[in-house]
Amino acid sequence: MIVDLPDLAAMDVFGARIAAKLQPGDVVALSGGLGAGKTTLARAIISALGHEGEVPSPTFTIVETYDHLRVPLVHADFYRLEHPSEAEEIGLDDYREGAALLAEWPDHAGGFSHEATCLEITLQTVGENGGEGRRAVVNAGEAWQSRKP
Ligand SMILES: Nc1ncnc2c1ncn2[C@@H]1O[C@H](COP(=O)(O)OP(=O)(O)OP(=O)(O)O)[C@@H](O)[C@H]1O
Ligand SMILES: [Mg+2]
Repeated sequence: MIVDLPDLAAMDVFGARIAAKLQPGDVVALSGGLGAGKTTLARAIISALGHEGEVPSPTFTIVETYDHLRVPLVHADFYRLEHPSEAEEIGLDDYREGAALLAEWPDHAGGFSHEATCLEITLQTVGENGGEGRRAVVNAGEAWQSRKP
């Protein structure tokens, strides 16, 4: 499935559609190069779940948690991991207990596409200069088949 995301408003709408279907145990794997819009979409999902205030990028902390939402969230940016085994070392499994995971650079953590609860989203820049919007290529795991966002 391909979703056109021409501007930031479209990111908010798409984020809200995902948030409405999200359940504990899910993984939203956000792929795409530097500046593709992964954090922007994660912020849209977090806001749609009712979080008010700032959503810091987890670039340096790797993991940010949002426990107070309808679905507790773990927002992770695995860019700085040097080996997938480091995901275990930072306690990812414990963070994920009872929560949904929004994962930027999921391949740096070994990838999640083998999980039935994984919604894989690859963001691509449309046009040349990064200012012309995005599109998302979406692959829904088994658990998402009946609740496509
Ligand atoms: N659909 C869109 N249309 C236009 N601009 C967008 C869109 N989505 C995101 N942007 C802009 O692209 C820039 C980069 O977005 P963002 O920080 O979310 O990227 P990222 O994929 O998280 O990058 P990084 O890999 O560096 O963490 C931001 O300035 C954001 O406003
Ligand atoms: Mg980011």
